[in-house]
Amino acid sequence: MNKKHLGDNYAPTHTSTPFKQHLSGVMELNKIYCGDAVEVLRSLPAESVNCIVTSPPYYALRDYGVHGQIGLERSPEEYVDKMVEVFTECCRVLRSDGTLWLNIGDSYAGSNKGKGKKIHTGVQPDASNIGDIITTFNIKGYKNKDIIGIPWLLAFALRDSGWYLRQDIIWHKPNPMPESVEDRCTKAHEYIFLLSKSPRYYFDYQVIMEDAKYDGRKKMVREGSKRLSLGEKACLGVQTICKGGERWKVTDGKYMRRKRDVWTVPTRPLKEAHFAAYPPDLIKPCILAGCPIGGVVLDPFMGAGTTALVAQELGRHYIGIELNSEYVGIAERRLG
Ligand SMILES: C[S@@+](CC[C@H](N)C(=O)[O-])C[C@H]1O[C@@H](n2cnc3c(N)ncnc32)[C@H](O)[C@@H]1O
Repeated sequence: MNKKHLGDNYAPTHTSTPFKQHLSGVMELNKIYCGDAVEVLRSLPAESVNCIVTSPPYYALRDYGVHGQIGLERSPEEYVDKMVEVFTECCRVLRSDGTLWLNIGDSYAGSNKGKGKKIHTGVQPDASNIGDIITTFNIKGYKNKDIIGIPWLLAFALRDSGWYLRQDIIWHKPNPMPESVEDRCTKAHEYIFLLSKSPRYYFDYQVIMEDAKYDGRKKMVREGSKRLSLGEKACLGVQTICKGGERWKVTDGKYMRRKRDVWTVPTRPLKEAHFAAYPPDLIKPCILAGCPIGGVVLDPFMGAGTTALVAQELGRHYIGIELNSEYVGIAERRLG
């Protein structure tokens, strides 16, 4: 895993490039391309990014106010097909040892009734305010009030298309959007799917280990672990491993364990954007574990630039794609 693989065409800059001016096959680092995800991805070189971290437009949730936007398809199946097209192109651009971290939430059929105009089938965009929540009505094959199950429909479709579906991480939101519904619980989670291009891939589990809060249960403490080579032990500076190798005592006396798959991260509203940008803390572990320092992180739905911001902060390069030029502007302002 080193930058030599990436070729010589890399010139770090911090500008966005209208897609038409982008030279096919030559990839400049630290750029946000303004254009359609599939169209721009097709022009990027194969196997050129280490990892992909993204949050695509959710199905039937928001109107991003631009022609060619994804998310307003007439059926969940059409939406999933479109997503598979995008992530098939992503797969080509991703290195063979790369990973895709895909944040996605669910939608309800017949949601937000009474807000905005309705049409007979599918989704009603209301372009008066970009990022606005939209009205869904009569989605074919679903009864109003049905949860659609978009995350899993998409995950299974991606698996069928060749991706290795490795994990469903639950993003638990301790401060969810309040809901007025009285016939179900308030939704307080989304998914992050971890997918890989190959069965073996780059994943630095050590860098994302978490506090184990050692509880002093019956000790199964051993000096070292049979599972670790001497080299690994030396490099970690680990002295003690507890409970089947899960808990680690590091030199400063703190117990650490492998990161678990429920991540509690509060949402953080972004003043400039109407839509939900994900919080930087949510994607830090994805970039730390999925991309080596100096590597390249791609986000084909860059929105307000959170992925770029975090990649930059963690010493990784980024490539972004975003259809809405207004959002590209927001991202650029955030990146300074
Ligand atoms: C959920 S938002 C991403 C938010 C982002 N993670 C952040 O933190 O700011 C999805 C983005 O996808 C963009 N989008 C929609 N259709 C697109 C397309 N066909 N190609 C590229 N971007 C698209 C929308 O404009 C929106 O900014």
